Amino acid sequence: MILLFVLGVSGSPTKNANTDKLVKAILEATGADTEFIKLSDVNIGPCRACMGCVYTNECVVNDDFKWIAPKIMKADALVVGSPTIFGLPSAFTKAFMERLYAFRHVNMLTKGKIGAAVAVGYAAENDVETWLGNILRFAKFDVVDTMSAKGTVCCSVCGTGETCAYAGWNAYSPEVSGRDYGIMETYKGYLEILPDNVPYVKGSVKILKKYRNVEDEPEVMDRAKSLGKAIAVKLEERARRG
Ligand SMILES: Cc1cc2nc3c(=O)[nH]c(=O)nc-3n(C[C@H](O)[C@H](O)[C@H](O)COP(=O)(O)O)c2cc1C
Repeated sequence: MILLFVLGVSGSPTKNANTDKLVKAILEATGADTEFIKLSDVNIGPCRACMGCVYTNECVVNDDFKWIAPKIMKADALVVGSPTIFGLPSAFTKAFMERLYAFRHVNMLTKGKIGAAVAVGYAAENDVETWLGNILRFAKFDVVDTMSAKGTVCCSVCGTGETCAYAGWNAYSPEVSGRDYGIMETYKGYLEILPDNVPYVKGSVKILKKYRNVEDEPEVMDRAKSLGKAIAVKLEERARRG
């Protein structure tokens, strides 16, 4: 029997992060041998564009990517998770994804590996989901699927008071952004917009519930499990083909 290996990484620095929970749920549902790495617990800097990897496919930067790179090479599938930070993947995730650059050039070493991604945020998580999928495809991963989930609104956990004049989510309001990010619909029981709130000009919100835990959202967890199972199906197909 071939033992298949799936590597999962989370770019959230938060303890017990929603991103971690979803990456772990996906890994578990694959039924394979898995390993989870929290990128904020290791030291991986951004790509320095030194081109030191061009002929060897080996990154010359001396940090934790040195021992993580062989794990990516060993992995039959890679699951990448990221929170949404200022509308983008976290810097931890971005640095990790940049370092995949070493595997291209002469040989595209990640070509054909299975890839999957999950993004968490309150507003622009779909953009991060798209970005993750694109960059995995850039490295020629066979992307099975990507998903996103609504997480905690950051200003609701800062703990400095009941209201905030600089509420970040206000910049994402339909009035300001021209897009509906589904914030009010998702966070009905979490945030109450107070009558003196004027999008972007003055944020005024009452925090009704601080944390949004993806584990309390059966649909979200089921989606993660399905993604993990889809990886398992692909892996089995490949193992059968040999
Ligand atoms: C500095 C900072 C900036 C953030 N900016 C955004 C943002 O622009 N859009 C968004 O959807 N979420 C934003 N968030 C919220 C996080 O994406 C959200 O809380 C998510 O649930 C975090 O996932 P985690 O629990 O896996 O860390 C931000 C959080 C922090 C700490």
